[in-house]
Amino acid sequence: MRLTYTSDLWWKNAVAYCLDVETFKDGNADGVGDFRGLTQQIDYLAGLGVTCLWLMPFFPTPNRDDGYDITDFYSVDPRLGTLGDFVEFMRTAKDRGLRVIADLVVNHTSDRHPWFKQARSAKDNPYRDWYVWSDTPEPDDPEQVVFPDKENSFWEFDKKSGQYYLHSFYKHQPDLNVANPEVRDEIARILGFWMELGLSGFRVDAVPFLIENVNPKLPSPHDFLADLRAFMGRRDGGSILLGEVNLPYKDLMGYFGGGNGTELTMCFDFISMQRAWLSLARCEAEPLASALRARPRPPKDCQWGMFLRNHDELTLDKVTDEEREEIFAAFGPEKTMQIYGRGLRRRLPTMLGGDLRRVKMAYSLLFSLPGTPVIFYGEEIGMGENLDAAGRMAVRTPMQWSPEGGFSPAEPDRPMPGGAYAPDRVNVADQKRRPDSLLRWFQLLIERYRECPELAWGETTVLDSGHPGVLAHRCDADGASVVVVHNFTDTATDVDLSLDDLGEHVLTDLLTDATFEVARKGGVRLPLDPHGSRWLRAAPPKVAPDDASVTSQ
Ligand code: NOJ
Repeated sequence: MRLTYTSDLWWKNAVAYCLDVETFKDGNADGVGDFRGLTQQIDYLAGLGVTCLWLMPFFPTPNRDDGYDITDFYSVDPRLGTLGDFVEFMRTAKDRGLRVIADLVVNHTSDRHPWFKQARSAKDNPYRDWYVWSDTPEPDDPEQVVFPDKENSFWEFDKKSGQYYLHSFYKHQPDLNVANPEVRDEIARILGFWMELGLSGFRVDAVPFLIENVNPKLPSPHDFLADLRAFMGRRDGGSILLGEVNLPYKDLMGYFGGGNGTELTMCFDFISMQRAWLSLARCEAEPLASALRARPRPPKDCQWGMFLRNHDELTLDKVTDEEREEIFAAFGPEKTMQIYGRGLRRRLPTMLGGDLRRVKMAYSLLFSLPGTPVIFYGEEIGMGENLDAAGRMAVRTPMQWSPEGGFSPAEPDRPMPGGAYAPDRVNVADQKRRPDSLLRWFQLLIERYRECPELAWGETTVLDSGHPGVLAHRCDADGASVVVVHNFTDTATDVDLSLDDLGEHVLTDLLTDATFEVARKGGVRLPLDPHGSRWLRAAPPKVAPDDASVTSQ
């Protein structure tokens, strides 16, 4: 049965928008965002055109890792509202046609979670085996420590019970032991709970850690992911798992679950993200082009999650040391902009020097690359970071709604950026009124992306643009083609493409309405502005009326 381009596989060409309830909109004037505030802004999100919201963790938490340290998986952090507020939000999102997914953080809990309190209380406590313990932990590999500014080991000695416990992240985040069937059942119960309240799936935190760091080792760790997916499929066939799997392609593909795609529905493409930054730093297409050429196709119903920035640091762990230094030199030369020796705690516009042409080009690229774009709140208006905030919190400042801030009638709990990125310079209200704003550009890109299923569903080919600074690719599906070109340089240039099978077609630029005719043999010359981009839909030549159909008098 051919049911392509239907909403059955809605994630294939979704536009996902990641936000933190805490920093989006304050609905009760206490300086902290909440579900009531978010619910008020649903029409803004629907108007932007995004189709799926990804909520960062909103569960009760001591907040020592911005909510990625959970003390109750079945409730809402009281600072953000109540379960009742969540259900009202869910209902409104559904009414506007938005799907919602949430972070699933079950690699670990907070050390203040009642399960861990029980577990550490005695070696024979029934919860002991919910976590990973050892008398003699294996030595640490310092290279592998995730937060090297705060931790130097994966193991912490628990004085009271006399054993070490495993923590892949901060020491206050003990790892759950999914080798224990009770833990696996509990995780399924958590999924079931939130799906019953309307979620369409989950962004799964730290997937390789989740299935690998257990005791005893699971004989087939991937079976656990496949079981979770099957469980979700039984409850709701349209539900998804979007995984955080930052691994080389060859190791990552197994997380989709082989050719049938029985595990993660989507995986973030950390490799092409990092290569895109190298391309931006060098003003050269090749780093990204070679990643796209090397990237395997995901299984049939699966998809890549494409992004340029997210709520964490811009991680540059998959480029060489020299390449990382190039990116640091271009986009984050000062030590305060860097983090963990491998990343940048900045947002995209500041890294691109506030050059709107370049910023617009970067997002045109993001929306035209094969996969499902995932954006982080505030990207659509070009928000900057606040380097005065600690660590990764630099990019997690409140959403800027108006020149006054507009996030909260009270003093926001987290300070907003100042200077050229302060709310009076960067905000939604102003950009709504300006036709040339970044916000309007996002709306156009999202509209066109949704109108061109070829981009997300199609077969992608990286083309020879004949120019080192220009990336050209085309996406083909069911006989329809979209050709896309991006100029990484700040000089205007013409590129000559050869589109052999599109001879005499007309290419219409979907972003400007300009048209170009492809010569009979397939050649076409495309002028590009400095940092310009074009998305070109190919239409076949008008066929002259068939002689036989002309009636002779
Ligand atoms: C990955 C999340 O993106 C990050 O923000 C968090 O600190 C770690 N996982 C631990 O949950």
